[in-house]
Amino acid sequence: MADLPPIHRSAGWEDPAIGRIIVDEQELQARVRQMGEQIALDYAGRAPLLVGVLKGACVFLSDLARAIRLPLEMDFMAVSSYGSATRTSGVVRIVKDLDLDLTGRHVIIVEDIVDSGLTLAYLRRNLAARHPASLAVCALLIKEGLQTVDQDLAYEGFRIPPEFVVGYGLDVAERYRNLPFIAAYREDAGVGARSPLPSSGHEDDRP
Ligand code: IMP
Ligand code: MG
Repeated sequence: MADLPPIHRSAGWEDPAIGRIIVDEQELQARVRQMGEQIALDYAGRAPLLVGVLKGACVFLSDLARAIRLPLEMDFMAVSSYGSATRTSGVVRIVKDLDLDLTGRHVIIVEDIVDSGLTLAYLRRNLAARHPASLAVCALLIKEGLQTVDQDLAYEGFRIPPEFVVGYGLDVAERYRNLPFIAAYREDAGVGARSPLPSSGHEDDRP
């Protein structure tokens, strides 16, 4: 990868809806590795429990976990926020709850992106009520200037402009999660312009 000029990093992913690259693959990998190393230092001697918020955080969590040189556990939770395709309403519903008991655990919520911050605020309240020994948040992306809720983020990857992005776990109607970089989404080009999407019966599939 290192010997390829930047323009080739999105080669093979040509799709009119994939706009400019916001964070490329190398930057992502380097930052995720740093975040993992920082977490390993901060939690030395403890076995943190990573709580991934499905589905968006799955790619980030799998890279992050491998960068944390500590014994750790993972669990997942899926939430659905009512709203339009690209805006949340703040009303969050748990679609899949955790399997593990959080009592006495050092919990790290792993989130893909903080937009309004409403989803995270809800999750934090919900998990704090389960008596963890500590609760921290690790978010890969923070959209600048959009948080309506004050956030205390122990670990943050990148601050990005307030536009809709896809890739590295983030989707539009379930597409683009497998892009190895973060790119702006060009709504005008139409989702899945290259390959038509099957119709989805979901009320909302944002997370
Ligand atoms: P919030 O509650 O407004 O902070 O929204 C958080 C959730 O909305 C994230 O976990 C994502 O699932 C989704 N989301 C917010 N912004 C984007 C984006 O730019 N691309 C894809 N999903 C997004
Ligand atoms: Mg989503």
